[in-house]
Amino acid sequence: MTPMTRLSKSIAAVLGAGTILLAATLTPTPFGAGEALAQQVEGRAVEQASPLGGNVPGDHLGTASDAEIWRAVRRGIQGNVSIPDKQAGVMIQSEGENWRAWRNGPITTGGAWGMLGTIGLLALFFVVRGRVRIEAGPSGKSIERFSEIERFAHWLSAVSFILLALTGLNLLYGRHVILPVLGPDVFAALSLAGKYVHNYVSFAFMAGLVMMFVLWVRHNLPGKHDLVWLVQLGGLFTKGVHPPAKKFNAGQKGIFWIVILGGASLSASGVSLMFPFEFSMFEWTFGVFNTFGADLPATLTPLEEMQWSQWWHAIMALIIIAAILGHIYIGTLGMEGAFDAMGTGRVDENWAREHHSLWVAEVKGETGSGGTAQPAE
Ligand code: HEM
Repeated sequence: MTPMTRLSKSIAAVLGAGTILLAATLTPTPFGAGEALAQQVEGRAVEQASPLGGNVPGDHLGTASDAEIWRAVRRGIQGNVSIPDKQAGVMIQSEGENWRAWRNGPITTGGAWGMLGTIGLLALFFVVRGRVRIEAGPSGKSIERFSEIERFAHWLSAVSFILLALTGLNLLYGRHVILPVLGPDVFAALSLAGKYVHNYVSFAFMAGLVMMFVLWVRHNLPGKHDLVWLVQLGGLFTKGVHPPAKKFNAGQKGIFWIVILGGASLSASGVSLMFPFEFSMFEWTFGVFNTFGADLPATLTPLEEMQWSQWWHAIMALIIIAAILGHIYIGTLGMEGAFDAMGTGRVDENWAREHHSLWVAEVKGETGSGGTAQPAE
C-alpha cells in the first residue's frame, strides 16, 4: 500500500468513525470495556453540550480536547447505534489484532507442523517397524467384533469428521495452498460449498459422537491392564510382545477420550461460531478456572467470545486431526487385520487373541470363575 493510499484510508476511517460517533451516545454495556471510562466519557459529552460551542470542526465536541473520547474508542468502548447490529457501536476492537495475529501465526503454523510431524513420525514408524502382522498367521476363523450399530456410529463420525476436517482446513490453509493453484474463482466457489458442508455435516458428527459415547464408554474406563499396556508401549515396537487387553487397549482408550472430550469441546465452540453472539461460554469457563486461582479475563465482550471460540475451535480441531491421522494409519496400513473390525464387523481369531486377549476370553466364556484369561503371546 502506498503512503497516499494509506493516508486516504486513514482519513476515510476517521471520517467513518466520526459519523458513527455522531449517531452513538456513549453508554456502557454489560460487556463494555471499562465502565469507569465510559462514565467519564459520558460526563464529558454532557459537559460539552455547552451553549458556548467550540472551535472543533462541526462544533460537536465543544472546545475541549477530544482525546478522552478517542482513548475510549481506542479501548473498545461500545456506544449505542440505531441499526439492529449493536456490535457496530464498537468502532475499534484492539483484541481483534491479537486474534488475527494468533490465528494467522502460531495456530496456523503450529497446526501445520503438528500434522506434518505426525505424518513424518508415522512414515518413520512404518519404515522401522513395518506392518504389524498377525504373528500366528490368520486362523481362518472369525469372531464378531463390532455390531452394525457400532459400525454405523463409527462411520457416521468418521465420514463426517473427515469432511469437516477437509473443509475446515481449507479455511485455515486454503488461501495458501489451494488459491494459488486453482485461482480465485474456483477457490471461492469451493470455499462457499465447503462452508455449507461444514455447517450442516457438523450435526452428523455430533450425533455420531453421542452414539459412540453411549455404546463404548463402559469399555473405555481405565483399568489395571492399561498400565501394563502403556509400560510395554502396546508391544507395538517389539515383535512377539502382546500385552493383554479387553475390548479396547490403553491406546484406543486414549483415542476414544480425545475424540469424545475434544469432539464435545470442538462441537461447543463450533455451535458458538455458527450462532454468533448467543453464548458466553468462555467468560463462564474462565470464571470457573479463576475460582481455582487462575488469572484469566473475568469479563469478555461478545466479540471477544467469538474470537476465543474461533481460536479454541481451530486448536481442538488440529489436535484431533493429528490424533486421528495416527488412528487411521493403525486401522489401515499399520496393522494387518485391523480394518476388518470396522469393515465387516468380524476379525480373525488369531488377530483378536494377539491384540485383545482378555476380550476374546470374555466373549468365548474362557474365563473360569475367579481365574484370569491368559494373554496370547
Ligand atoms: C478412514 C478413517 C478411519 C478408519 C479406517 C478407521 C478405522 C477404525 C478401526 C479399524 C477401528 C477398530 C479398531 C479395533 O478393532 O480395535 C476403529 C475404532 C475407532 N475409531 Fe476409527 N477409523 C477411521 C476414522 C475415525 C474417525 C474420523 C474417528 C473420530 C473422529 C474415529 C474414531 C474411532 C474410535 C473412537 C474408535 C474406538 C477406539 C479405537 O479403536 O481407537 N475413527 N476405527
